[in-house]
Amino acid sequence: MSWPLTVAFALVVLSTGCHGDMDWPGFEGELDWWQKAVFYQIYPRSFKDSDGDGISDLKGITNNLVHVYNLGAAAAWLSPIYKSPMKDFGYDISNYEEIDPIFGTIDEFKALVARAKELGIKIIMDFVPNHSSDQHEWFQKSIKREDPYTNYYVWADPKIDADGNRKPPSNWISVFGGPAWEFVEERGQYYLHQFDPSQPDLNLTNDLVVEELLSAMDFWMDLGVGGFRVDAVNHMFEADGFPDEPRNNQSGVNDPNDYGYLDHIYTKDDPRCYGVIERFRARVDAFAAESDNVTRVLMTEAYTSIENAMKYFGNETVPGSHMPFNFLLINNLGRWAKNFSDAVSLWMDNLPERGWANWLVGNHDQHRAATRYAPELVDALNMIITLLPGTGVTYYGEEIGMENTFVTWQETQDPQGCNAGPDHYQEKSRDPERTPFQWNDEPFAGFTSGNSTWLPVNPNYVKLNVKAQELETVSHINIYKQLLSVRETPTAQKGDLSIRTIGDHLFAFTRNYPDEEGLLVLVNLGLEEMNNVNLQTVFDKLPEEATVKITSIFSKVIAGETVDTKDMTLLPNEGLVLGISSE
Ligand code: GLC
Ligand code: MG
Repeated sequence: MSWPLTVAFALVVLSTGCHGDMDWPGFEGELDWWQKAVFYQIYPRSFKDSDGDGISDLKGITNNLVHVYNLGAAAAWLSPIYKSPMKDFGYDISNYEEIDPIFGTIDEFKALVARAKELGIKIIMDFVPNHSSDQHEWFQKSIKREDPYTNYYVWADPKIDADGNRKPPSNWISVFGGPAWEFVEERGQYYLHQFDPSQPDLNLTNDLVVEELLSAMDFWMDLGVGGFRVDAVNHMFEADGFPDEPRNNQSGVNDPNDYGYLDHIYTKDDPRCYGVIERFRARVDAFAAESDNVTRVLMTEAYTSIENAMKYFGNETVPGSHMPFNFLLINNLGRWAKNFSDAVSLWMDNLPERGWANWLVGNHDQHRAATRYAPELVDALNMIITLLPGTGVTYYGEEIGMENTFVTWQETQDPQGCNAGPDHYQEKSRDPERTPFQWNDEPFAGFTSGNSTWLPVNPNYVKLNVKAQELETVSHINIYKQLLSVRETPTAQKGDLSIRTIGDHLFAFTRNYPDEEGLLVLVNLGLEEMNNVNLQTVFDKLPEEATVKITSIFSKVIAGETVDTKDMTLLPNEGLVLGISSE
């Protein structure tokens, strides 16, 4: 069967109106800065090295922050830069109010904030409330039962089995694999670590701990940060009495050391998590109210159900997170238009009145979007995350289409990869998506002037780099910049949303706002060309003609051209942003 025929068949099915309800109203009223923003995530070891040690640092970031500005992003979120033994590359904090010397000094941090201010960009700190490093003074004193630190962590007595042997308090497994309990002889108790053994879980039922965290937030807000991205928030509490968790029969995992082996009903999504986030929110709101009335934003990370994700927004009377991260597009949606429209609908339909959407396809914990989907889909994915209604989040390198880098077992750094061993590290390691940013075609992609880098540079840097793409009119980075400038329009910021699919692979949406040019975004997720596509059959009131605004790098149509919405051709992997009249 030829393609036009398949499409024609699909149209008959669709014109029966089964997609008529995928419409959401626009937004009325004023939007705050973070709602209009794209947040650009910098992995601080991998952005730009200034001193030749092969690891990026604050000076390198400051001197190249103009890159973020040039893209049109409003804020840079930095993964942790606090003092840390770097067992989990900064997500193991040994002092919440100091900068790690690998990254620089507090004065260099002040210089970064000053530079950001000049550029009109906000700096967002990562913040880790679930655990500290085992090198933190709090933990060292907690081991010794020195007050007030005695109960700063989750400690429990051993169980003793029938033969008199010492056993952990429960069967819990850590996210990185292996038991979640570690025995400390000196204290005669086990401590809980939901992640690496070097990351003991803080006891957030202890108010003193919450107060410590709140005062650390004040410390960074006093230094001028624009908000926080809060780490692993659904791991903050565990069920009282540490009951054993049941087997996860759905996961297909048979290794009792693998996190997927158990169903984490007692260690995740405890209802007390939301309350802590509400306290953090009250603190950032208070800071704004007492200073310049500029919102300090709270973004929260929880891999959880849609129902739980929405709870982080807070309740009718008490606000919580501004932005519980939306991880629905980070799932492997494949090339199916329905998967995309279902994911977007799931988020939009569950969004509470007080909520606000956000869209992202990658971060430092997931393989590169270009690799998970396809390098050819890079522009289309950027169209989706920047033109759906809501805040956009971009992981460094997505603007140039960076791909996963192959990292050998010997080169592996990530504890999650190391714990999996030489045969399985590639299934678990997050190193492939954390490699140095590709600036130009000089040695080490212009990332360092030294002679090595902490993770290997992707050999594709020779062609795939910022400089090369900036010199080309049609390139991922220039498309990305155009998308961010389209986001400035009322249509992109506040317009309504209608989503339609045609056949298995065409994902399409419109945005309309009264008296403004509308937007029609088309993405052919498939590997086949689509011909004679008639969008009139799925969208109401679509004008016959549309103007091409932004295309994928390989598109044959060019910006400014007029196309017939009754008879469109879409290349495999092609994304198009079209302008439509508002009538
Ligand atoms: C979050 C971070 C991840 C880190 C973990 C433990 O999931 O994004 O990188 O390893 O928390 O802090
Ligand atoms: Mg360095």
